[in-house]
Amino acid sequence: MLREVPVVPYWIPGLFHALAFLDPAEFLLKLQRRFKSDAPVQLRAGPIRLFFYRNVEDIKAVFRASKRTTNKSTTLFALRNLFDLPKSAVQFYLDDNSGMGQRPRKGSNVAPENRINYLIALNVKTYLSSHYLEDLDQRYMTALLHHLDSFNITDEWLNPNFVDDLLVFQQYIPDFLHLLPSWLMPRAFRVRKRLLQNVKQWHQHAHRHYDCSRLAPEDPNWEPYFGSKLMRARENYSLKTTEMTPDARATEDLGLIFVATTNIVTSMFWFIYEALKDRDLLSRLNEEISDCTSSNGTDPEIKKLTIQPLLQSTYAEVLRLYVAIAASRVAEYNDINVAGYVIPKDSYMVIYSRSSALDHAAWARAGRTLIKPLEEFDAERFLVDQDWVRPSLAGFRKPGHTPARDPDSPQPKKRFTVEGLLGLWYPYGGGDRICPGRHYAKHQMVLSFATIFSKFDLELIGSEASKAAPNMRYAPFGALPPVGKIPFRIKKKAAI
Ligand code: HEM
Repeated sequence: MLREVPVVPYWIPGLFHALAFLDPAEFLLKLQRRFKSDAPVQLRAGPIRLFFYRNVEDIKAVFRASKRTTNKSTTLFALRNLFDLPKSAVQFYLDDNSGMGQRPRKGSNVAPENRINYLIALNVKTYLSSHYLEDLDQRYMTALLHHLDSFNITDEWLNPNFVDDLLVFQQYIPDFLHLLPSWLMPRAFRVRKRLLQNVKQWHQHAHRHYDCSRLAPEDPNWEPYFGSKLMRARENYSLKTTEMTPDARATEDLGLIFVATTNIVTSMFWFIYEALKDRDLLSRLNEEISDCTSSNGTDPEIKKLTIQPLLQSTYAEVLRLYVAIAASRVAEYNDINVAGYVIPKDSYMVIYSRSSALDHAAWARAGRTLIKPLEEFDAERFLVDQDWVRPSLAGFRKPGHTPARDPDSPQPKKRFTVEGLLGLWYPYGGGDRICPGRHYAKHQMVLSFATIFSKFDLELIGSEASKAAPNMRYAPFGALPPVGKIPFRIKKKAAI
């Protein structure tokens, strides 16, 4: 039987819980603590209804409902308010009612070239996976090694201040998303304008030198003008519509550059920081790295590095503790039901990664022994014994599977797994709309960590440095940078 989701009590009718959304992350965590039951609760901000799903099985149901929901309005909110998408393009995205499937939804009369939401998602997914991903990994590694070895590549950049501007822009994410006006943060708006202008210049420059419709299999995966084939593909479909003006295309690509870098840079900080804080962890990570690197420290085996157990577990734990993301889905087309609850058309379903990341009871139910509380960092949290089986499959385990172990032989290595954690660990969201850059993100993080530590010695400076805390002002918008500056020193490793 379908159930109605109860509305959380409120003080001001009409406004309901709107004021609480000034600090949405804190509000969602408060709700989590306040209600003993983990059934969904309903929130209202004026006419908008939000359904906060918290139980693991319900969260999985939200992800599974991808076919009946979209994330169009939240994506558009970010594109418009964070990256200044022109209003005409906003309307163009809104008018596209063709859905996200390969075939347009029944009743939709949107021309194939105007299926903008589908085209965006399809292309990022295609060009960030399979052999394109391998190619990106290889290029990333080559570029990283080159930068680390030289540090003096300055003459060829079109916009030498782009990276600095991006880092400044990143500091203002919460302010843009809280809709602060330009007169309160003129610097943020100035920097954003310059970034958009820079992307536009880059597009013009690239079009002068390269044909973006060259997307055949025999065409190169990378050339020096657009960069990867993904960027060419995005320009190519966008140019077939009048609504994707140079401004709209600049917004789209600034958005992609931003999501492809900001969460990684912040997460990388925590990856390095946690290893520097715990020298034993660092030396074990270094062992895994040297296992994949030739004796002169170059030419690491990319694939092997990305499947080392402790490196993977440390990476996953960084995302669990330091990424706080609220993913949302909208019942765009009809009233629907999700996990047995009625969701009226146009309302939002919201899930919050941090409330699941800190849910002790649910992690224990998933068969994870909490050696350290979930509020603390535990690099081994995602490691399990070789014969570990998640509780939901325990009944199917074949007895006598593990051979008896010689007590004098070393402990068998633990293995990394996220099995059974769907609905508990979801720094990348889930379902059809899951982050298409997640594999590349993981590879970049592990490869960067390995490369940096095989070339340099790093140390935190001062006793305060080991007390870095995540800045919750950035929740629930992604990775949480540290509060303040964390001093460290770095030197090239002595040649052996
Ligand atoms: C640690 C790094 C990263 C984190 C934590 C992260 C997280 C996320 C999350 C939570 C979403 C929304 C998913 C949902 O609603 O279910 C998302 C979407 C997206 N991410 Fe990432 N991401 C990361 C890295 C990347 C990278 C490296 C790229 C590209 C190279 C990328 C490209 C995208 C794109 C294009 C979307 C929109 C997908 C859509 O709406 O269909 N991300 N990411």
